[in-house]
Amino acid sequence: MSAPTIRPAATPAPFLPYGRQSIGEDDIAAVAAALRDDMLTTGPRVAAFERAFAAKVEAPFAVAVANGTAALHLAMLALDLAPGDVCIVPTITFLATANAVRFAGGEVVFADVDPDTALMTPDTLRAALARAAGRRVRAILPVHYAGPMADTAALAAIAAEAGAVLIEDSCHALGSRDARGDAAGACRHAAMGCFSFHPVKTIACGEGGMITTRDPALADRLMRLRSHGMQRDLGAFQSPDLACDTDGGPAPWAYEMPEIGYNYRLTDMQCALGLSQFAKLDAFLARRAALVGRYRARLIGRRGVDVLAPASGQTPGWHLLVALIDFAAIGAPRRVVMERLRAHGVGSQVHYVPVHRQTYYRDRYGALDLPGAERFYARCLSLPLFPDMTDADVDRVVEALDAALA
Ligand SMILES: Cc1ncc(COP(=O)(O)O)c(C=O)c1O
Repeated sequence: MSAPTIRPAATPAPFLPYGRQSIGEDDIAAVAAALRDDMLTTGPRVAAFERAFAAKVEAPFAVAVANGTAALHLAMLALDLAPGDVCIVPTITFLATANAVRFAGGEVVFADVDPDTALMTPDTLRAALARAAGRRVRAILPVHYAGPMADTAALAAIAAEAGAVLIEDSCHALGSRDARGDAAGACRHAAMGCFSFHPVKTIACGEGGMITTRDPALADRLMRLRSHGMQRDLGAFQSPDLACDTDGGPAPWAYEMPEIGYNYRLTDMQCALGLSQFAKLDAFLARRAALVGRYRARLIGRRGVDVLAPASGQTPGWHLLVALIDFAAIGAPRRVVMERLRAHGVGSQVHYVPVHRQTYYRDRYGALDLPGAERFYARCLSLPLFPDMTDADVDRVVEALDAALA
């Protein structure tokens, strides 16, 4: 009797996560080259990455830091918040936006969001300001959720009336432009813009972040704060004795710490990866936009399903593909839909649990009624979006979603 033929099992299609980095041999070579150089941190690649970044987002200054949370933290420190000072944060965001305010000793007042875009709007900002009445409001932190941008001009005008500045959380919005053509991070209406280079973001450094500003003194201070608050410019020393040797001559080793900072530096290996990724940014953005276009064409019109859209005239640098699904009408809870998608090899995620609902913030500020955020949170589901996806991958996700919602 002949042995039974063993047929190889069909290769399963690879799992599609909701987001992932796109790393090529060029990126690997760039990091390897950095490893062969003398300076693994605070070297020439840091300044080169900052220059390239500033030029791209059309801001005069960019300061590289360890991650997006560090960017937000330093931005908050630079405000010199006094105890009790308030910053306004939209409740649909990653924890870091609100946490940065707390790191720097400020109090968070959560703003509601538009139920279809998850963005802070002039109306939700005004409502939050009304809740902050009688307290000193120092900053408003709009989050350009998923890539589409909040109306920074309108928000900045309201912020100015309240005596506050705008600090943009642009962690989702590298490459986004608003309807006026202003790039996220250009800081036309904001004091600072903060970015993240976490692997699911538009470019990856592993971990990484950037702060942009138009203010040279602020850029200098942020550079000091990312490295313990240290300065080496002898002329700027506030304690001249620290600048001198015993004979009164300038001390070549001198450094002064006029205020306390952190170690939030980004390494040269990370900046090498950032620079190499940055060279491909336009291609990444174009691919992301094409994938979003394909999703929209295939998903819109399905019963109970919509797709997050930007305000007209914007060109978002898309970070997330957010489907808005009426799970109640469909009759399947979100967790079941997610499980069914997973069984088809499709990852999904929820961005985000409204931050005001987190135990820490509820304990601190009590329960809040933010209906726009609740309506958004009830429907949002992020589906796979990353530049290495093919058109066929989008079709596979759409078919899996059809099956999951059936
Ligand atoms: C909106 C938003 N803000 C801040 C951050 C923090 O960035 P990082 O993870 O680089 O610290 C993230 C990252 O997920 C984010 O999505």
